[in-house]
Amino acid sequence: MKRVAVITSGGDAPGMNACVRAVVKSCLHHSLECIGVFDGYQGMIEGRYKLMNYFDVDNIIQYGGTILGTARSEEFRTVEGRKKAITVLEKEQIDGLIVIGGDGSFAGAKVLGDEMNIPIIGIPGTIDNDIYGTDHTIGYDTALNTVVDAIDKIRDTASSHHRVFFVEVMGRDAGFIALNAAIASGAESVLIPEEITDIPQLVEAIKSNNKGRRGTIILVAEGDDAGGAMEIMNKVEPFLAGYNLRCTILGHIQRGGSPSAFDRILASRLGNHAVELLLEGKSNVMVGVDGETIVVSSIEECIKKHSSPDLSKLTLLEKLLTNKS
Ligand code: F6P
Repeated sequence: MKRVAVITSGGDAPGMNACVRAVVKSCLHHSLECIGVFDGYQGMIEGRYKLMNYFDVDNIIQYGGTILGTARSEEFRTVEGRKKAITVLEKEQIDGLIVIGGDGSFAGAKVLGDEMNIPIIGIPGTIDNDIYGTDHTIGYDTALNTVVDAIDKIRDTASSHHRVFFVEVMGRDAGFIALNAAIASGAESVLIPEEITDIPQLVEAIKSNNKGRRGTIILVAEGDDAGGAMEIMNKVEPFLAGYNLRCTILGHIQRGGSPSAFDRILASRLGNHAVELLLEGKSNVMVGVDGETIVVSSIEECIKKHSSPDLSKLTLLEKLLTNKS
């Protein structure tokens, strides 16, 4: 193992820079060369990369986004696209590849690894936290705190104007952000992809939850089966005459910003461990955490299986809604 390449791929997540920094510094510590590939697999196809040194990653731990850039490359899904990427990796004599991203990025890495027989290590980086094989993905903690902060602000208006707010948060396939933000912000209801949404039941819940309250917050994960926050609000509106309804879509505000201390530490540990795994001769694995312990899972398993939030938290949310005095 002499030369390692690192990419960030898929949606950016706060803490990706901390992870790139850890990968590069760990490589330098072990006297390995580290190539930073720009814009994920697309940059790999186009041969855009840089030999990283200490100064490239100095002073970046506190920044959101990714200095390497990222992309969702359609071309990489094609055999021709991957052939171009392989030519670049072979030309640069890359002995190992570290991919920081979500399960889509790992699926791409797995195919590439099979086609060119290069060791691949995955590091989970996505705000969605929906990767099997880890309790936490890089970026999730920061995004969750951003969402809670935003809801606290929306709550001020909800209470002052006695309004019912539908707040849409990210999570295409998973309700981690919505469910945990609901608990942390004291939301009155939450709608997540893991549970079927019953509109008449939601109407009744809004009516009863609103009793004696100054405002109501309903968190909607963007991947909910009944639609986004706006669509759901439009569905319940005809049954809630006299209620003051509003919708806020938080959008990409959730993906940016300075990473939390938790994400920086997680990213630093996983980045360093990924390099150590390559040195130990490991391949096709993803490095994650189980509580405080670093764990390693087969990348295939992490692609095939899906992680879901603890649904007992829905019961907790209901229990904490009690308005018994
Ligand atoms: O996968 C992370 C994520 O933020 C999802 O929650 C969201 O659905 C998606 O990315 C948005 O992607 P894009 O920025 O490409 O629109």
